Amino acid sequence: TEEKPWSGRFTAPTDAFVEAFTASIAFDKRLYAQDIRGSIAHARMLAQAGVLTPTEAEQIVAGLQQVRAEIEAGEMAFSAALEDIHMHVETRLTQLIGEVGKKLHTGRSRNDQVATDVRLYTREAIDEILAGIARLETALMDAAEREADTIMPGFTHLQVAQPVTFGHHLMAYVEMLHRDGMRLLDARKRVNVLPLGAAALAGTTFPIDRWYVAHELGFDFVAENSLDAVSDRDFAIETVAAIALMMVHLSRFAEELILWSSPSFGFIELSDSFCTGSSIMPQKKNPDVPELVRGKSARVIGALQTLLVLMKAQPLAYNKDNQEDKEPLFDALDTARGSLKVFAEMLPGMTVRREAMRAAALRGFATATDLADYLVRKGLPFRAAHEVVGKAVRLAVEQGCNLEDLSLEALRGFSPLIDADVYQVLTLEGSVEARGHIGGTAPAQVRQAIARARTRLADW
Ligand code: ARG
Repeated sequence: TEEKPWSGRFTAPTDAFVEAFTASIAFDKRLYAQDIRGSIAHARMLAQAGVLTPTEAEQIVAGLQQVRAEIEAGEMAFSAALEDIHMHVETRLTQLIGEVGKKLHTGRSRNDQVATDVRLYTREAIDEILAGIARLETALMDAAEREADTIMPGFTHLQVAQPVTFGHHLMAYVEMLHRDGMRLLDARKRVNVLPLGAAALAGTTFPIDRWYVAHELGFDFVAENSLDAVSDRDFAIETVAAIALMMVHLSRFAEELILWSSPSFGFIELSDSFCTGSSIMPQKKNPDVPELVRGKSARVIGALQTLLVLMKAQPLAYNKDNQEDKEPLFDALDTARGSLKVFAEMLPGMTVRREAMRAAALRGFATATDLADYLVRKGLPFRAAHEVVGKAVRLAVEQGCNLEDLSLEALRGFSPLIDADVYQVLTLEGSVEARGHIGGTAPAQVRQAIARARTRLADW
């Protein structure tokens, strides 16, 4: 086995299984770019502070750049013996530039190093996820614009409730996603704080300039407390919490896409390129993509649990437990990126069966509330109107027809306040048109909501 950078006080080599068990290289090698950027900033700062000579810093920076090139060319041999990405980079650096490479770790610990790397990685992933949210919001808004006049049944309890426009329904998800984005943007402020300088836990005896490093790496603040800086992973927890909630929203949308594409609904058809067939049932076209997104929300919810439980009993400061933060964090970030991308790409190819939506809205007395509101406008108290309409619905159920199929005479039998103008309020168009306030389902309001949402998205 290779010589460990920390082997000085040891007399026996690490047990082979322990080496494999404690290694994180398999999953933290994806931090190589952040690790090298952090080390370059640290080396430059050490030179500014007079801890390294300018020549030493230059050699280290050039060596780190070469290590990066080697990793990107696939030339780096990763091994559990070197435990993690930090030791791989430093060991290779020293192989490349000799003794001076051993000066890089001055005034630093892997504890503040790993916290810095993970924060840099998380910050970049948040920015990608925000771009993914913006793309999906845009795809939803484009579809909502096309479907601003399309009428579908709105549901409560999955029973037909009132007619809504499909555009309005789609815009509900834009609202959810936008709040998810704002939560991530807010979490990003607390992610973007520099731990480096905390060293192992207590700070360092060298005259470091933490703000120099913060500026080099684009951090907004430097962590105030060294113990906190190396030990807490709340920044990862709140990022994953925001992502878990976003995945819950995507999962709800997925569930609806699955229902709507079932022949029993027949509201939409997803394009062939986003579906798969069955190996036994020749007729099947399965909505695998939304099903998987719904399924993947479980992983992210699980990742949040893992991180919370990981943190809850750790004494200050750093503990090796924290090495377990990476897999759930990375998995949540990957899942979010992938789910947003696949949905944004799937939506433009979704076929909307407007006639099926309309036919479904016509079943189930979706305009019953409109009839009650009509009676209220004619002077009846709402509770009394509710009663009248309930009886009219019962008659229609008995006759197997819709409310608007009842004769004026029959309707007037329930209330003399009903006149011929009632048929206008019983239409689907009349019903949605009438909800013309901010937040309502009227097509004109939906168009305005889309316009506001586009402006809002442009300047977040
Ligand atoms: N691989 C470790 C982690 O992910 C890096 C920090 C290790 N520090 C230590 N003192 N063993 O947390």
